[in-house]
Amino acid sequence: MQISSRGTWSGAVGFILASMGSAVGLGNVWRFPYITGQYGGAAFILAYLGCILAIGIPLLLAEFLIGRKTERNPVGAFRTLRPGSPWVLTGWLGVISAFVILSYYAVVGGWVLHFVYLSLIDSFSQKSAAEITALFGAMNANPGLQIFWLMIFMLLTVVIVSRGVSRGIETGNRIMMPLLFALLLVLLVYALQTERAATGLEFLLRPQWQKLRATAILEALGQALFSLSLGMGAMITYGSYLSRQTNLVRCTFFVAIGDTLVAVLAGFVVFPLVFSFGLEPSAGPGLIFRTLPVAFSQLPASYWVALAFFVLLSFAALTSSLSLLEVACAYFVDERRWSRKQASWTLGMAIFLLGIPSAIGEEFLSFMDGIATNYLLPIGALLIAVFTGWAMKHSERREEFAIADGSAFRFACWSVLIRFLSPVALILIFLHQLRLF
Ligand code: PHE
Repeated sequence: MQISSRGTWSGAVGFILASMGSAVGLGNVWRFPYITGQYGGAAFILAYLGCILAIGIPLLLAEFLIGRKTERNPVGAFRTLRPGSPWVLTGWLGVISAFVILSYYAVVGGWVLHFVYLSLIDSFSQKSAAEITALFGAMNANPGLQIFWLMIFMLLTVVIVSRGVSRGIETGNRIMMPLLFALLLVLLVYALQTERAATGLEFLLRPQWQKLRATAILEALGQALFSLSLGMGAMITYGSYLSRQTNLVRCTFFVAIGDTLVAVLAGFVVFPLVFSFGLEPSAGPGLIFRTLPVAFSQLPASYWVALAFFVLLSFAALTSSLSLLEVACAYFVDERRWSRKQASWTLGMAIFLLGIPSAIGEEFLSFMDGIATNYLLPIGALLIAVFTGWAMKHSERREEFAIADGSAFRFACWSVLIRFLSPVALILIFLHQLRLF
């Protein structure tokens, strides 16, 4: 059988952890707080939650379903379901998105590794807040240093992906994901006790609608797709290694709820600190690198807390970068008959090179991020929703859905969401962005 030679997850738990590993990453801890800070706090979070419910969850289920049905990478999946049709371009778009995203994701992953190093050499204790916040700026002004860490991050990603699906990707997730969550909870307890925690909470909980600019809705959508690893086939690829007995609906909810919890939790840790230490909520991509170390420096056992946090965050980043590389890698393994080793090393090298401009300038990093989250992922998401809802036959969808979930009600709800609500919402957000509506 196809699946045995491609590798497979050890079971539903392994699958949920791996998909959660893909979903939970820098998107939750790094991107979510800084975007929330830039786009106005509570109102933005509500828009984000709306996008998760109306678009994220139905689409996640759709991607899992397509992956499990075809047991293929995104390109192969569309080719198998609709041979000879242009739908295969949707798969291609996913492979391109994987390249674009990983090229800057790995740069930020490199920042995290640099902060692991700074924690190791005890750079935060007994320093003033100003000295600590300056550490990020110093790193940012040093392209060579960033390229070095980018290279290390890509090396780690390639080594794990080249070892294969189950052995490499799964084991780490099992240990690190629960630990990261636990440490965030500890940090939350501390953050809530800081002096101006109430201002931070107000920022997160009281919507100031006038601050919610229209572009913020598109940002919320991009963030929702990015955070759940949707719109580019990562979840198609992960679904393709899934066994038939697994209940897709349950897995979908686990992953979506877990991912959203981590993001919101990160917000609740970061903003009390931002206000208590007099930092700017809209400080941009450096937000967590400036705020959290200041908090660590004030904590008992600061050395160990800082070290644990950055090690766990680098793990969360790695488990996501694996899934990004895996999309491109699976294509070359399945369709081009490359060996897994050859594919992962060649692609890793190409992505490293593509990442260098992002390491040199933060503007380029933001530019790539904008291309991915404002265009590539929403277009990919729209195509996948339309494919599942309209190009696939009702019976095809029904049959695959029913394998592990017999509920006609749940199927009907999902069908309505994926056929009508998700595509319409995606189109409206788009037209608005293009100023056509
Ligand atoms: N979801 C990941 C995160 O939150 C990023 C990612 C995006 C991974 C797209 C795979 C595909 O960090």
